[in-house]
Amino acid sequence: MPSALILGITGYAGSVLARALVRRGWDVRGVGRSDSAAGDLEALGVSVEIADVGEPQELDGIGRPGDHVFYLVGSVSGDRRWIERVGLHGVRNTEAALADVGVASLVVVHTLAAYGRGSADTITETSPLAPTSALGRVSVQAERHLRQAHADYGLPVRFVRAGTIYGPGRRTVRALRNRRLRVIGGGRNVSSRIHVQDLAAILAAVAERGRSAEVYLAVDDRPVSLRTYFDHLADKAHAPPPASTPRWLARAMVAGFGLTSAISRSHAPLGHSLYALVTANCACSNAKIRTELGVRLRFPSYVEGVDDLLRREASDA
Ligand SMILES: NC(=O)c1ccc[n+]([C@@H]2O[C@H](COP(=O)([O-])OP(=O)(O)OC[C@H]3O[C@@H](n4cnc5c(N)ncnc54)[C@H](OP(=O)(O)O)[C@@H]3O)[C@@H](O)[C@H]2O)c1
Repeated sequence: MPSALILGITGYAGSVLARALVRRGWDVRGVGRSDSAAGDLEALGVSVEIADVGEPQELDGIGRPGDHVFYLVGSVSGDRRWIERVGLHGVRNTEAALADVGVASLVVVHTLAAYGRGSADTITETSPLAPTSALGRVSVQAERHLRQAHADYGLPVRFVRAGTIYGPGRRTVRALRNRRLRVIGGGRNVSSRIHVQDLAAILAAVAERGRSAEVYLAVDDRPVSLRTYFDHLADKAHAPPPASTPRWLARAMVAGFGLTSAISRSHAPLGHSLYALVTANCACSNAKIRTELGVRLRFPSYVEGVDDLLRREASDA
């Protein structure tokens, strides 16, 4: 039976991956921070260790020979210190903890922030990296560190750059209904998305059939603007479409909240990294995961994905 160790198992994508692997008959363990989310997973037979990836000693002994390890720690918001702690120090600590273990694979999940403002052309795994935010720079640094470990002693690391992860349970519909969700500058820039269930299938394929030191883009077939995506979701959910915040105002909020969060040591609601990510043009190709890994998406575009999201949220209500 394949075994998985998921760092970030209590998060949105990590917990969906855990459930998907349990359904396939894998032995699943994980690391998270919150006891409450861990309780739900333990009911499925998944063991969860509470540990901080920023503290090397807390990761002692986490890996077992033959494990497929998934690194899903972090999120797209947060300030630079936090992004460095989970995105770089946590990655280094994890690599050190796994160095002598003999894991089968280490799959590290990043955003598209390494592509910076993006491009008018379709982005592929070989497009140039030009990060403009802490999130992007940290992912490039983490990748460099892990490539060195691959070169030094053969760490079987693979990199997944995922589009915006969406699906049931993200509370997006509630945010639309409460008029709390806004797009920036009209939301006309086009970027790629991935349904969380498809992401789980792609991560398993990368672990089992991917090549070490390779990058795989986890995106669906149809890039879409935030305006089109949220207008479609709002229409289907009978909710008001989101209003738009002008770019100048969003940038002022980033600067103001950044200062407040530096003083209060808490996370900025709209940090610079999140602003950079949601205003970039990152329309990506998924040819590599389809041709090399044989991935078939259940939700090839946001149209099928939104239908699923609304159906599942209605049945959970
Ligand atoms: N959200 C997106 O659209 C998107 C797009 C592309 C890539 N990604 C990347 O995909 C990954 C997963 O995203 P997500 O949306 O599932 O994030 P999420 O829901 O915020 O989950 C993050 C996970 O990391 C854990 N974590 C945070 N800090 C930690 C620490 N210091 N030590 C140990 N665990 C820690 C969290 O634990 P607790 O929940 O227990 O606190 C949680 O399990 C992230 O790396 C993110 O950057 C996200």
